[in-house]
Amino acid sequence: MTEPTARTVQITRPAITDQHGVIESHHLPEAHEYAPTQAFRAQTNVHGEIYAQAADFEAFWAEQARTLAWRRPFTRVLDWRPPHAEWFSDGELNACENALDRHVAAGLGDRVAIHWEGEPGDTRAVTYGELLDTVKRLANVLEGLGIRAGDRVAIHMPMIPETVAAMLACARIGAVHSVVFGGFSAESLRARIDDAGARLVITADGGFRKGRVSPLKPTVDRALALHPDRPSSVEHVLVVRRGRNEIDWVEGRDLWWHEEVPFASPMHEAPALPAEHPLFILYTSGTTGRPKGVLHTTGGYLAQAAFTHRTVFDLKPDTDVYWCTADVGWITGHTYLAYAPLVNAATQVMYEGTPDTPDWSRWWRIVERYGVTILYTAPTAIRAAMKVGRQVPQGHDLSSLRVLGSVGEPINPEAWLWYREIIGGGRAPIVDTWWQTETGAIMASPLPGVTTLKPGSAQRPVPGVSLAVVDDSGRPVPAGEGGLLVADRPWPSMLRGVWDDEQRYRDTYWSVFGDRYFAGDGARLDEDGDLWLLGRVDDVMNVSGHRLSTAEIESALVAHHAVAEAAVVGAPDPDTGQAVVAFVVLKRNQHLVELQDAPAELRAHVAATIGAIARPKAVHVVPDLPKTRSGKIIRRVLAALASGAEVGDLTTVSDPSVIDTIRGIIAADG
Ligand code: PRX
Repeated sequence: MTEPTARTVQITRPAITDQHGVIESHHLPEAHEYAPTQAFRAQTNVHGEIYAQAADFEAFWAEQARTLAWRRPFTRVLDWRPPHAEWFSDGELNACENALDRHVAAGLGDRVAIHWEGEPGDTRAVTYGELLDTVKRLANVLEGLGIRAGDRVAIHMPMIPETVAAMLACARIGAVHSVVFGGFSAESLRARIDDAGARLVITADGGFRKGRVSPLKPTVDRALALHPDRPSSVEHVLVVRRGRNEIDWVEGRDLWWHEEVPFASPMHEAPALPAEHPLFILYTSGTTGRPKGVLHTTGGYLAQAAFTHRTVFDLKPDTDVYWCTADVGWITGHTYLAYAPLVNAATQVMYEGTPDTPDWSRWWRIVERYGVTILYTAPTAIRAAMKVGRQVPQGHDLSSLRVLGSVGEPINPEAWLWYREIIGGGRAPIVDTWWQTETGAIMASPLPGVTTLKPGSAQRPVPGVSLAVVDDSGRPVPAGEGGLLVADRPWPSMLRGVWDDEQRYRDTYWSVFGDRYFAGDGARLDEDGDLWLLGRVDDVMNVSGHRLSTAEIESALVAHHAVAEAAVVGAPDPDTGQAVVAFVVLKRNQHLVELQDAPAELRAHVAATIGAIARPKAVHVVPDLPKTRSGKIIRRVLAALASGAEVGDLTTVSDPSVIDTIRGIIAADG
């Protein structure tokens, strides 16, 4: 790892104007600290003592794990052989039973599990009883297709209740789901199917996005038809009818959900599975071109997911209406939509579409209609709402909201204050939650009834978790100084590996600090010991709270016939946190792309190769890239140029004149 602290990304502080040109942040009170109100404190689930109670972290997590239903109680808590941890390993349980069966058995079958709203406006209230019925039938369908415990199932779905049912049915029979976000390309989907060796794909014809049907099954078809010399591992494709878009059909391979699931038996016994049985794989971008399959297992994951959901959001399952806006294709949607709320018997909202369809009041109408009490979303969404202007949310009754959550990227204080004042009515505490695909569940966050909030800080490790900020050699850095964030002991929901790649697991997370987990984030602790995240220190970008790899986008670019060389950097962006900026050198004598068309062509090419989320905001065609004498591209210089910052020390650049050339091109490209 080179220059670990030099590449920290500053917290963006955009001055956001609304549609009327009003600078939103000028209408907000000054940022200060916010202690919990008396009223909130009086009703909160946990008090400050919880930190002391968690001093013996193993005993503490064992106590949390005992809130789950175990078929065979565990006697061992933690078995830590760095870098491999096992939690509750001699216990047995079933994740789906914890999410559904036990609540129905306890008489909660009629409780609404999911208030679902489709983008066109269709709605469904799915009770715990109904969800369990569907999941049992689906489990029988999966078993009928020969899917057994340990087999992998890819899920490429829109935001509909069937997606949650699919995840839970896999969990029920011990099959390992790999949800692939609906926005990914056929190539990205195929790479993930191949890596996991999935035997089944569960998908839908299409889902609704921005007022149109966005096709999914056609992407699955294309993915499976790629590489005709190398047939995929997929035997069947199970298709939910949602978009009613026209699709092709492969007889014998493809099955309609509505022709199978309702006719399957509603009787299904959930088997007891070992606590360390794999629950899911979720692919995330790393520093190399190939996404890595982060592996999570059952007992520890559920224990930390459920605990953090109860305490960080102060969840009252009998009265709260919880809404996490994340797509199930990301870790937030896994932990805080598919698993934790159901394990905690909560009632939640699930929304299919985008916040601006049919107009920007959509989310606020949903909050009003269902009486949402806890809202969990990302800073990008808050900044987008802020840009549209406060009059839109202010046209709705948001008084039901009592806890607001933020996740995915640092939240700038302006957005924090706007979230509190305009969405939270100046009352609702904001919990800024730091965690990762790899950590499985929240690692640092205020507790809403305990912590005095500081806008922009993730504040403290959750009880039972220990984090530190260290320098390159692993020594703690003094308060106020930037360093690297590590977890200095194992936690229950930690990743158990990178699918089929032990070496990558070791290299990525454990080669830097031995038995301490290296998160890849820069951070600092302030005088009070509160944690401030400073952004990634590796070649991973964070665009709208989504992780993107510079290397993956670069390899997509150089795969284009016109491109000789490419370098990708993240530049600060007032809306998306960071934006993808690419610099490309075109092949000489290539006539296939007219120079002026190249940026548009290459942006579309990246979107087609990886998915629309990876589409660069800007592509600059340059004659050369800044390199060291040995020919390595110096991305640090490009990142500075892309953000208009000082380029710093240029002694290692072999031809410094390219810097001015590139600066001129950026200015000309606008
Ligand atoms: O850089 C951190 C940032 O998002 C990264 C993890 O991305 P992903 O695995 O996609 O998971 C996102 C949702 C959990 C982290 O390495 N990040 C996440 N939450 C925060 C954050 N940065 C600052 N503040 C946060 N609250």
